[in-house]
Formats: sequence, structure tokens, C-alpha cells
Amino acid sequence: MTHTNNTLNQCKLVFVGGGNMASAILGGLIRQGMSAQRIWVIEPFEQSRQRLEALGVHTLSAPSADLQDADVMIWAVKPQSFHEAAQQNRAFCQQALHLSVAAGIRSDSIAHWLGSERIVRAMPNTPALVGLGQTGLFARTGVTPADKQLIAQVLEPTGQLLWVAHEPLLDAVTAISGSGPAYVFYFLEAMIQAGVDMGLSASQAHQLAVGTFEGASALAKASDESPHVLRERVTSKGGTTYAATCALDEAGVQSLFKHALEAARLRAQELGDEFGK
Ligand SMILES: NC(=O)c1ccc[n+]([C@@H]2O[C@H](COP(=O)([O-])OP(=O)(O)OC[C@H]3O[C@@H](n4cnc5c(N)ncnc54)[C@H](OP(=O)(O)O)[C@@H]3O)[C@@H](O)[C@H]2O)c1
Repeated sequence: MTHTNNTLNQCKLVFVGGGNMASAILGGLIRQGMSAQRIWVIEPFEQSRQRLEALGVHTLSAPSADLQDADVMIWAVKPQSFHEAAQQNRAFCQQALHLSVAAGIRSDSIAHWLGSERIVRAMPNTPALVGLGQTGLFARTGVTPADKQLIAQVLEPTGQLLWVAHEPLLDAVTAISGSGPAYVFYFLEAMIQAGVDMGLSASQAHQLAVGTFEGASALAKASDESPHVLRERVTSKGGTTYAATCALDEAGVQSLFKHALEAARLRAQELGDEFGK
């Protein structure tokens, strides 16, 4: 049996795990007007259940027959807890469409653990917490176009979505946007520290560095030009930006950075092998 509800407001959503990512997704849905009464969360940790109940959602400490009419199950447990959670819930959610946000767990493993082919795998990132996330998505062949639309409605409040045609591309999504916020924070740390070393206060350096990332990202998004062209425009030969980019090039930063992203992609692949057992 497959579900017949294809608009989100008629659906019953069940989150397995009520931590950070579940809170980002369900918080976005409630802010966009979804009734909290249509959302259920299975969460073993009592303090987390209390925090979620304050939002008006139903909570359960363990799966029960309450789940049998779930339209969408959203798997938001840590990768290492997924197999156990699947074993606990499997009997209660055979008719549901499944959405996993767990990093690294391949859909073959999920299909095997749940005995279902209606699985979408997502790779979100933390700016989802403020509605500015980037989420990569892959759908197995058992997922219909209507199912994909439903999943898009579930995740759109968290930011932008990008469907990929082949599951291994989710490892690239992990390397670029999944881990990506940490690279930005890494550069921010260095820029803020440099500003302080040059005599600015920490809050002045923070404002300038964070605002520059925000402004440059907005410019790159609004412009038809590539980031390379935008960079060349602000780099006059012999000028200050030129001095900085020459120092970066001499140290090989661009190729080191690409190497770092490849390391993230390979690690995502390894984690898939490790957790899928
Ligand atoms: N946070 C991110 O930025 C981010 C980004 C991309 C992907 N993800 C993925 O999203 C998933 C969730 O991450 P998170 O940061 O939200 O983790 P989290 O805050 O630790 O939330 C996971 C929750 O699931 C609960 N849980 C554990 N076993 C369970 C079970 N059998 N049944 C029901 N609930 C169970 C945990 O409870 P206990 O604490 O009591 O164990 C915890 O409250 C992970 O797989 C992660 O890879 C997260």
C-alpha cells in the first residue's frame, strides 16, 4: 500500500530522532504554517521530548502502533544509531515514504533494513537552522514524482534543494555543502584573527569578516559573472588584493583546498562502507 496524501498539510510526519536536524526541519515546517499536530517525534531523551512538546508536536519515547498511518518517516538519528532505530521501527512503518538525513548511510542499506524501496536520501547542512541550508537529494527508483514533490515540501523551509541522479554524487554534496559551513568558519576565524592582530577589536573584525562573506556571496549569487571574473575585477596588478592572492597562490592554497575537499568526499565514501554493515 502506498500513501494517498500528497499535499503536506494532509500528511502525518514522523521524525525518528528529535535532535538538531529534526528540530531545524520541523521548526521550518511549523513556521511556514504546518499544524504541529500532524508531526510526531520518536525521541528517547526526555529533555528533548519536553522541548519538542513546547512546539506543539506529539512525542513518543519509543515506536508504537501510533506510527502505522505515517505518510512520511524522517530518519534524523546519528548514522551509528540508524540500524538499531530501523530495527525498532520497521514493523510500524511499512506503508510510509522514507526520508533519511543521516550522513553516509547508503540507500541500499536503508532499503535492506526497512524492507522498502520508497526512500529518499538527503544531505543537508547546518544553515538549515536559519532557513539558508543547501540540501542534496537522491531518490531510489521506488520513489514517484509525487513522492519527490512531497519531500521537497518537507525540506523547502530549510533552504535550497538540489536533486542528484546518482547516489555517489551525495558524497560530493557532503564534501562541498555538507561540510562546507566549517570551511567558511575556518576562513572567518583566520580573517578575524588577522583583523585583531592588525589592531581592530574582535567585534569590529567579526563584523567586517562575516559581512564580507555575506556580501560577496550575495554578489556571486546575483551576478551573471563567474567567481573567477568577479575576483579578477577587484584584483588590479600591483594592488592590495593582488598582494594577498599572490601570497595565497605561492603557498598553493587553491590546490590544497581542492585536496581537502577530496579528502572529505573520500571520508564520506568510507563512512558509507562503515555504517552500512
Ligand atoms: N546537524 C547537522 O548539521 C547535520 C547535517 C547533515 C546531516 N546531519 C545528519 O542528521 C542526523 C541527525 O543529526 P543531529 O545533529 O540532529 O543529531 P542529534 O542532535 O544527536 O539528534 C539525534 C537524536 O536521535 C536520538 N536517537 C538516538 N537513537 C534513537 C532511536 N533509536 N530512536 C529515536 N531516536 C533516537 C538521539 O537521542 P540520544 O541523544 O538520547 O541518543 C538524538 O536526540 C545525523 O545522521 C547527521 O549525520 C546532520
